[in-house]
Amino acid sequence: MAKKAAVKGRNKITIIGAGNIGATCAHWAAQKELGDIVLVDIVEGVPQGKGLDLFEASPIEGFDSNIIGTQSYKDTANSDVVVITAGLPRKPGMSRDDLLNMNTKIVKAVTGQACKYSPNATIIVVSNPLDAMVYVAQKVSGFPQHRVFGQAGVLDSARFRAFIAMELGVSVEDVQAMVLGGHGDSMVPLLSYTTVGGIPIKHLVDKERLAQMVDRTRKGGGEIVALLKTGSAFYAPSAATIQMVESVLRDKKRVIPCAAWLTGQYGIKDVYCGVPIIVGAGGVERILEIPLSQSELKALRKSASDVRALIQALKI
Ligand code: NAI
Ligand code: 2OP
Repeated sequence: MAKKAAVKGRNKITIIGAGNIGATCAHWAAQKELGDIVLVDIVEGVPQGKGLDLFEASPIEGFDSNIIGTQSYKDTANSDVVVITAGLPRKPGMSRDDLLNMNTKIVKAVTGQACKYSPNATIIVVSNPLDAMVYVAQKVSGFPQHRVFGQAGVLDSARFRAFIAMELGVSVEDVQAMVLGGHGDSMVPLLSYTTVGGIPIKHLVDKERLAQMVDRTRKGGGEIVALLKTGSAFYAPSAATIQMVESVLRDKKRVIPCAAWLTGQYGIKDVYCGVPIIVGAGGVERILEIPLSQSELKALRKSASDVRALIQALKI
């Protein structure tokens, strides 16, 4: 009798931190049927409750994903992707960097546990301050850099795209834009690569208005924090994260900006920073080095040096 080929079951996604972003990541991932989901949180009952609630939605929405919540990392064993959202979010008046010390401790602890049980996983970090937290996760896990990267650029680019679509009254689908650099006030929206239906943005929006939209993008996280007052954005950040997870699990090879480890690209070395990458089953499969104007390049290097200063302040 012919031997049956080994069948790989569903993918397994662990999401650490079952707060606003973690739980909403689980929601998007389940709806896309990306795999079985394990939600982990330090607060007893929260991941269990949210996991069960989401699973109970599956007969209505018609997705087949097992979803559990737990405090035990044993349940996360052999995950294909681990998403780290554990940490404290910003409160009004707080910068992302204020979170540095508190979230370093948390990201260190959860990464240590997760990578012990899933040594072959790809890790996607969301906790802030983002670029520094990716660095912490990579150092603690010891995983190759291409399997540890961070979500920021997809969100920042989506915000910029949303503002342009609102301004012009056009479909968001037709707006392409890319925001590079660290996930902070010095992020770098690339006007030279911003198009609407293939038309360069400079033909559609005047310089002054464009500068206002760039500024709004840079402050996009703070705008939501000021409105919510009790936390930070989570719908767009989680959608951005799941776009990355999907690209890894389905080997889609999306070309998206993510916080990746740089080894000299753009003249930047030994730091995580947002650049355009190809995301596939291998994680960061390739970093794309695209031509930038002198001012864009200068801004990208400045943003990377802000991240470097944060990393140097880390106690890990
Ligand atoms: P949240 O407060 O709603 O959820 C965080 C969860 O982490 C909580 O449920 C908490 O109990 C859990 N947690 C804390 N310590 C833990 C530990 N040791 N083990 C397991 N779970 C632990 O916060 P939210 O809104 O989900 O944000 C999460 C993080 O993501 C924050 O650091 C925030 O600043 C960041 N963020 C990042 C963005 C990005 O684009 N990279 C965008 C928005 C927020
Ligand atoms: C955001 O950009 C706070 O980093 C978070 O919404």
